Amino acid sequence: MSAYPKRLLSIQNLSLQQSKEIIDRAITLKAKLPAFASTTKVVALVFFEPSTRTSMSFEIAAHRLGLRPVVFIPGSYSSMAKGESAHETLENILSMKPDLVVMRHSGDAAVARVIQSSAIPVINAGDGKNEHPTQALLDAMTILECRGQIESEKIIFVGDVEHSRVARSNRALFTMLGAQVAVCAPEYLQPKSNDWADTKRFTTLDEALSWATVCMGLRVQKERHAIGKDENKFDLAEYINKFRIDNKNVAQKLKGDAIIMHPGPFVPGEDLHEEILNDSRCVIHQQVTNGVYIRMALLGHMTGVLV
Ligand code: NCD
Repeated sequence: MSAYPKRLLSIQNLSLQQSKEIIDRAITLKAKLPAFASTTKVVALVFFEPSTRTSMSFEIAAHRLGLRPVVFIPGSYSSMAKGESAHETLENILSMKPDLVVMRHSGDAAVARVIQSSAIPVINAGDGKNEHPTQALLDAMTILECRGQIESEKIIFVGDVEHSRVARSNRALFTMLGAQVAVCAPEYLQPKSNDWADTKRFTTLDEALSWATVCMGLRVQKERHAIGKDENKFDLAEYINKFRIDNKNVAQKLKGDAIIMHPGPFVPGEDLHEEILNDSRCVIHQQVTNGVYIRMALLGHMTGVLV
């Protein structure tokens, strides 16, 4: 092969022969991709919605396993700023043949259709108010570590259950593992779908905290509240007054050996008082630590680097 130019700034920096050589080489590489993929697995992290814990946790998990994470973030440096749709963005990322895709999106039906038909393995990192399976797994791991069991635990979700994908995946997993699940929320934030139909409901936080062995706070997910008449149904001041988890209600009502959880992010003073972080029963940061190991276990097996 002839020497490449030092700088490729214009197509005219390449001779005819060099151009042909590069194209030939690329055709050979394309045919050899499976051989590369067995040594250097690439994981695409595609987050169309904001994330700190989940995205970094997947990225760190991938690095720990020797995988190569590639992170897509929408916004002013992506072509979405030029008007490209989320599903077309995803089609393009899939066309680059990563070995696995980790996806977070708003519940966009077109994106969901692309994922359903993808031949490339996909892990859901949160889709609208539907599901967040890796959060459920890391929460179950944390309960098991802190309480020694999941079966028979009494787990209360406090706050915006209706708009929470975390609560939805957690309810399904915890129930399957034999725990009892209950909800404590104002009427507007109580879950309406059928899968919650038989779930125990508390209307006062004191009663809920007295019952629970695990208390899980949830952020008020205003970005998913219906715009228009529905938003008048929610009164933040009243919510804080009746449902905010703080040292006073937890000290008075929650069992000494119970644990306090939250998937994060919490809004200080809104769903959780910041002083809760100093309560010895609070395991919020342990949840975050465990997230890396759950994601390592999944990524490792799904890419075949762990057997
Ligand atoms: C949540 C999410 O994005 O679903 N957090 C998380 O992933 N750890 C919860 C939230 O946004 O309130």
